[in-house]
Amino acid sequence: MTFSPALEERFAKLLTSYPAGRTRSAVVPMLLYAQDELGWVSRELIEEVARRTGVTAVQVDEVIGYYSMLRRHPIGKHLVQVCTNICCMVVGGQDLFEHASKTLGVGHKGTTTDGLFTLEEVECMGACSWAPAIQVGYDFHHQVTPERFDRLIEGLRNAEAETRKV
Ligand code: FES
Repeated sequence: MTFSPALEERFAKLLTSYPAGRTRSAVVPMLLYAQDELGWVSRELIEEVARRTGVTAVQVDEVIGYYSMLRRHPIGKHLVQVCTNICCMVVGGQDLFEHASKTLGVGHKGTTTDGLFTLEEVECMGACSWAPAIQVGYDFHHQVTPERFDRLIEGLRNAEAETRKV
């Protein structure tokens, strides 16, 4: 399987970061880094990570089953997660999720037709003091209003349009 030189470098560093015989500790970070580059975890990737870390493909598969942030299917370029757990819910988290769903035109786990956004309703993300909270990719956004949500999405759409012009 072919990865970018930057990802190969990360893998090489990871595999020397653990004591001898403990390369299995690299399974989760390798999967996460690879997912960042490829967008999801394919069967081919599972077998590659298993080969590189000295575990079986079944063991890698079990790890993926445990961690919800590892995805077995492709998603949109930006993963938009809206918390509707209790602290967020009492200050509008559920309404915000419904607004997000309307703005993006998709429901929970849906991906926009342009492939830019996947929406997810999620449990507490540890940002209760700044509710309602959302996460887009690795970025947290706090005290999000429907207006702020729309501006954020518009900004991402505009940035994408600029990228395509180049
Ligand atoms: S309940 Fe939403 S971040 Fe904790």
